[in-house]
Amino acid sequence: ETLRHCSETPVLPAKPIIAAKYPFQVDLEAGKRYAWCACGHSKKQPFCDGSHKTAAPDISPVRFKLDEPKSVWLCGCKHTKSPPYCDGTHKEEFIQKAELPNQP
Ligand code: FES
Repeated sequence: ETLRHCSETPVLPAKPIIAAKYPFQVDLEAGKRYAWCACGHSKKQPFCDGSHKTAAPDISPVRFKLDEPKSVWLCGCKHTKSPPYCDGTHKEEFIQKAELPNQP
């Protein structure tokens, strides 16, 4: 038997990158399907643009739909505990002190 399960190889937990140090306020429509970028690599923040397929294949976007139109804060730091929504995690030091190559 030549094929084996790679059970000895530890699976690295997929880690998102910080897309922004603040949440994104967006007006969402009722009944529309949205995909929130969970990996942080999308160029269309806070939404998924498919970048995760190459940049973070282990991470999938969070798809969601609202029953009524709503203005919401979607997480930009990608470390929220209640995705896709901001839970205030971006205020923590490990986010605010992080070096982000693409930030002004
Ligand atoms: S680009 Fe980040 S989840 Fe799709």
